[in-house]
Amino acid sequence: MVHHHIIILAAGEGTRMKSSIPKVLHPVAGWPMLRHVIHTAIQLEDAHIALVVGAGAELVQHTVQKFAPHTQYYTQTERLGTAHAVLAARAALEAQQNGVVLILFGDTPLMRAETLQKLSDAVLAGAAVAVLAFETNAPHGYGRVVVENGHVEAIVEEKDATDTQRTITLCNAGAMAVDASMILNLLNKIDNHNTKHEFYLTDIVRHARAAGHHVAYVQGAFEEALGANTRVELAQLESLFQHRTRTHMMLSGVSMPAPETVYFSADTHIAQDVTIAHHVVFGLGVTVETGANIHAFSHLEGAHVGAHANVGPYARLRPGTILEPNTRVGNFVEIKNTHMMEGAKANHLSYIGDAHVGAHANIGAGTITCNYDGFNKFNTHIGAGAFIGSNSALVAPVTIGDGAIIGAGSTITHNVPENAIALTRAALLEKNNAANVFRDKRKIKQ
Ligand code: UD1
Ligand code: CA
Repeated sequence: MVHHHIIILAAGEGTRMKSSIPKVLHPVAGWPMLRHVIHTAIQLEDAHIALVVGAGAELVQHTVQKFAPHTQYYTQTERLGTAHAVLAARAALEAQQNGVVLILFGDTPLMRAETLQKLSDAVLAGAAVAVLAFETNAPHGYGRVVVENGHVEAIVEEKDATDTQRTITLCNAGAMAVDASMILNLLNKIDNHNTKHEFYLTDIVRHARAAGHHVAYVQGAFEEALGANTRVELAQLESLFQHRTRTHMMLSGVSMPAPETVYFSADTHIAQDVTIAHHVVFGLGVTVETGANIHAFSHLEGAHVGAHANVGPYARLRPGTILEPNTRVGNFVEIKNTHMMEGAKANHLSYIGDAHVGAHANIGAGTITCNYDGFNKFNTHIGAGAFIGSNSALVAPVTIGDGAIIGAGSTITHNVPENAIALTRAALLEKNNAANVFRDKRKIKQ
């Protein structure tokens, strides 16, 4: 088993985000960028995460604890460069000197697990260091990867590069893998004698070569190097992530006639043979089972959609919604914290919250569960096969028995027994010719 130390640098302030929250916590597809990096990194064998924090350390730690509780934290108090940041985690590197150290940046959410595996494999195959590189015709701002006779000889930062070196189009993505038994020795040799007076992690390459070791590079896609310095770049990452996810979904058997209008979260799970129409948004925590249809302009979050269910158009599913197979939720229906059993329907203009809806129950247009009295929330239980007439208000807590019928326009404040008919309705008043009398009076007034 290969021990993987993953050191993630997340000490930057991200000034250009113009934000009170640390840069690495800004979301892509609903997850903080840092969560994407951690999620990818822990796919490596025996992975241990060391996070180097600085600006906003407390908030970063508080957030990360929720999804990666085994993370170790190291603080970089002064921002003296990427090598200096890695050395903040010196204690982790001293404690375990076997295996592979991977150094990643906390703001590069599009890094792929296969790429990290390739970096690790290169070190296991004998390189002291393996760097992630990418080709671009716009290399400005990136460190250039200098390769001679199959060895990476150096990475030269833009500001320190000669004119000839600046023409190199092979760039440093930032991520690298280093042999754990050598890393401390190599890092200790790095100084800050350069234009920015920073301790450059990239100098590790030169020192490894000077000591006669092999330095390899792995070529990745350019987006794997992309971080976000501004919210404009954050939106570009989002767009690339969405593109990648849509492609993955379609190749896994999900139909989308207008994929560019569908937005997924990082954890969206969609089964084969689901169709998603135009302009659908998946917030966090959504699962959709096979054969379901999500019609246009629907918004789902924290919801489970059962097999062959129909949702929308214009439906809103909020957290705690569970739709069993063959249920139907139609236009302008909002569902929250509700379990709809097999075949139940709410086709038009309803709010169903904190409810249980029995199998094959039919909820008429305009039905509202009145679940909140201004202080507390209460539950509504609708029995199997019940029929709720249009425009009914079910004042919770309330139970409608199996097979009961609620007359249209009723306000139900008491439990209704099985198979009963319940309705609240003022007697109909009918006055012959009264409409004409009314109109005549109006005319006289004018
Ligand atoms: C770095 C690379 C460059 C590469 C580029 C890719 C170095 C010296 N240069 O440059 O070759 O092409 O990334 O994007 O490594 N950080 C800290 N503490 C510090 C300094 C940095 O935590 O003291 C973190 C930053 O928050 C950031 C990452 O390290 O996540 C990279 O630092 P940054 O200053 O952005 O490096 P670049 O100049 O972009
Ligand atoms: Ca950068």
